[in-house]
Amino acid sequence: MRLLITNIDQLQQVDLSYLETGVITTNKPISGPKLSTIPSLSNAWLLVENAFIHSYGSMNALPETTADKCIDASGKMVLPAWCDSHTHLVFAGPRDGEFVDRIKGLSYEEIAARGGGILNSAKRLNAMDEQALYEQSLERLHNVMAQGTGAIEIKSGYGLCLEGELKMLRVIRRLKESASIPIKATFLAAHAYPLAYKDNKEGYISSIINEMLPVVAGEGLADYMDVFCEQGFFDVQTTERLLEAGWKYGLKPKIHANQLHYSGGVQVGVKCNALSVDHLECVGDAEIGALLGSNTMPVLLPGAAFFLGIHYQPARKIIDAGLPVCLASDYNPGSCPSGNIPLLLSIACTQLKMTPEEAINAVTVNGAIAMELEQIVGSIAPGKLANLIITKKTPSLAYIPYNYGNNPVERMVINGK
Ligand code: NIG
Ligand code: FE
Repeated sequence: MRLLITNIDQLQQVDLSYLETGVITTNKPISGPKLSTIPSLSNAWLLVENAFIHSYGSMNALPETTADKCIDASGKMVLPAWCDSHTHLVFAGPRDGEFVDRIKGLSYEEIAARGGGILNSAKRLNAMDEQALYEQSLERLHNVMAQGTGAIEIKSGYGLCLEGELKMLRVIRRLKESASIPIKATFLAAHAYPLAYKDNKEGYISSIINEMLPVVAGEGLADYMDVFCEQGFFDVQTTERLLEAGWKYGLKPKIHANQLHYSGGVQVGVKCNALSVDHLECVGDAEIGALLGSNTMPVLLPGAAFFLGIHYQPARKIIDAGLPVCLASDYNPGSCPSGNIPLLLSIACTQLKMTPEEAINAVTVNGAIAMELEQIVGSIAPGKLANLIITKKTPSLAYIPYNYGNNPVERMVINGK
């Protein structure tokens, strides 16, 4: 099966140096000033063979070729699909009541402290059967794919007991099988202390390490290990202990850090060789100093800051320090009930003062790296998966975040179809 897309107004995030040298260069983290450019080819064609990108070039050098299907993309752009590296997309229903409580003045932490928040979602998840959980999660996945997402990470963390965590991870595995986009699974039992362990925190930590981790790893249900390192949740020492336990099973850390406080989460993440440290509302010189020279990707989740009404991540400070940044949705029922990446791009531009190019680099190449999927997604390069966005008529890259609240996607190509 060959798909030929012609007359592409702008082919974005395309590996141009491959055309000259035959070497793919768009698999490396994009940092600092390099974030402000996106390689593009105007008036281009793109050939897809089966599920993969085959070749591309300028229309004035379109080779004679046969294709089973042709798409004319005049006035439109083609981009690699978004890579959303942080979501909690498997959950059992909304928490709109808490949304109203927050409007009336309660904080996220106050709601959590009285048994709402993550514990509220855990109660509902444990009461829901696996099939129903799978069906509503699949619907969410299809919705975000229609908004451009073509690779995604999904966490557990609303089970908070062996059975519940396994239920979530099995649902994620079923999504991997049915949804046809790359999915990474993260084990997040250390999301909150369940009520039953309120006065026995050590008991819960030991249950994660000795009871859950061996089964989760034994069944190959997770790729990564996450901890909500935050005041009132898991402290730095416990985070380090849990991450080391995860490493023993080959689960790389990918953690929640510095959302509500200067928790030391960034430093402990870097110390434990985390693939990424995510949230980062609270980032100062010490956190930037820890990240510089490390291989840990800073992942910003401004959708959560937007929805909770807290201050935004200091993206400029992080970029101007020469670091890479990644953006991800944090799709979850409490702090960000949306996996809409185009809207996230608008928030990143208007609130974090990222340029459209910086924001799009952060959800393509850098998003793929934050899931170790850079060999197969994140840019347009030969041999990568043909998970592509074909936009509606779009005058510029900036128009995508500018036209906020509207879906830029006309159609998605997933695995070349
Ligand atoms: O990333 N901060 C911790 N976890 C989620 C929220 C989970 C919830 O409220 O259900 C987050 O924001
Ligand atoms: Fe999260």
